[in-house]
Amino acid sequence: MTTTVRTRVAIVGAGPAGLLLSHLLADAGIDSVVIDQRSRAEIESTIRAGILEQGTVDVLTRTGASTRVLTDGSRHDGIELRFDGHGHRIDFPGLVGRSVWLYPQHEALKDLIAARIAAGQDLRFGTTAVGMEGIDGDRPTVIATTAEEEDLRIEAEFVVGADGSRSVVRGAVSGASAGGYFREYPFAWFGILCEAPPSAHELIYSNAPDGFALISQRSATVQRMYFQCEPDADPNALSEAQIWDTLQARVPGTALTEGPIFQRDVLRFRSFVARELRRGRAVLVGDAAHTVPPTGAKGMNLAVADVVLLDRALRALLLDGDERLIDGFAESASHRIWKAQHFSWWMTSMLHVAPGATDFDRRRQLGELRSVVESDAGRTFLAEAYTGWPLPE
Ligand code: DHB
Repeated sequence: MTTTVRTRVAIVGAGPAGLLLSHLLADAGIDSVVIDQRSRAEIESTIRAGILEQGTVDVLTRTGASTRVLTDGSRHDGIELRFDGHGHRIDFPGLVGRSVWLYPQHEALKDLIAARIAAGQDLRFGTTAVGMEGIDGDRPTVIATTAEEEDLRIEAEFVVGADGSRSVVRGAVSGASAGGYFREYPFAWFGILCEAPPSAHELIYSNAPDGFALISQRSATVQRMYFQCEPDADPNALSEAQIWDTLQARVPGTALTEGPIFQRDVLRFRSFVARELRRGRAVLVGDAAHTVPPTGAKGMNLAVADVVLLDRALRALLLDGDERLIDGFAESASHRIWKAQHFSWWMTSMLHVAPGATDFDRRRQLGELRSVVESDAGRTFLAEAYTGWPLPE
């Protein structure tokens, strides 16, 4: 049996990009249907990064998508870069007048899902997009299979691929140029969540001779930490004692407060940008359009920035029949995408120890870190990118 639903915008993917877009469009009276192959429980419990740019927080709070970020999240006014035995604080408000917020992505997703459901949004979990039809015409259609294995057709005026790095919509948008721009890195992060009080009040990004470590936080009782590991590392191969030894050795000068580790994962590093972000009446946003390595936490923030641009373009198109913004969408979005690609690559290469790095490489890297922390221009460059370039009004 095939069910057909009609809507103005079909959104594939109920991650930050898809949910925020449906929220913003609804505010303009534009209906959408959002589908995701995952269950609500899976979306709400998958652990991702925790840093929101000032502009992301402004969008979430101003539009009522999440106000809990202000009560349950915490504002961070700086980070520390640690190398060669010393810490150097980057003071965000002092340098650029902005801050960031520590608020886990899955908490933002809980808020967005609750807000969409409260507003009566057509939001279908367990529903898998399998293909697309007619994206070159004016009735693009998403073909999907429901949790009950029934066929679903969503006929829309516009289709948005917000379906993550293994996007189905991307195949239809990119066609023959599906490859995109791509880079892999010879390392990964070993991430843990542990029950312990914070070891530091702000994030520490530490470049140590054996590799990188990041000390992050979650709450007064739960902490998130990462250390550089091999890309094919097995998260279960290390004992808790080995994990703590590795972390402690990589942040010399700070005695980490240890506690039971209740989650461990290995995060692979990739940089990717799809060659085409739009074709006809379909666009890609968020991880479907691009992936960044995690250093600097740009992933969710970049998804939000894509959506702010796309919301404006779809309002102009669907309310006023004005195609100019949607015609310029790929070009405008790509400017921020490539700035974020550069920043994530730069932070990654400046802070990690590449396998086979020579003494020259090591000394050059310390020179680079010193040029950043010892100069107002260097610190400001980092602070501007980390807290996020301004979003369009
Ligand atoms: C976190 C993750 C990041 O990639 C980062 O740069 C900072 C913080 C986190 O999960 O807390």
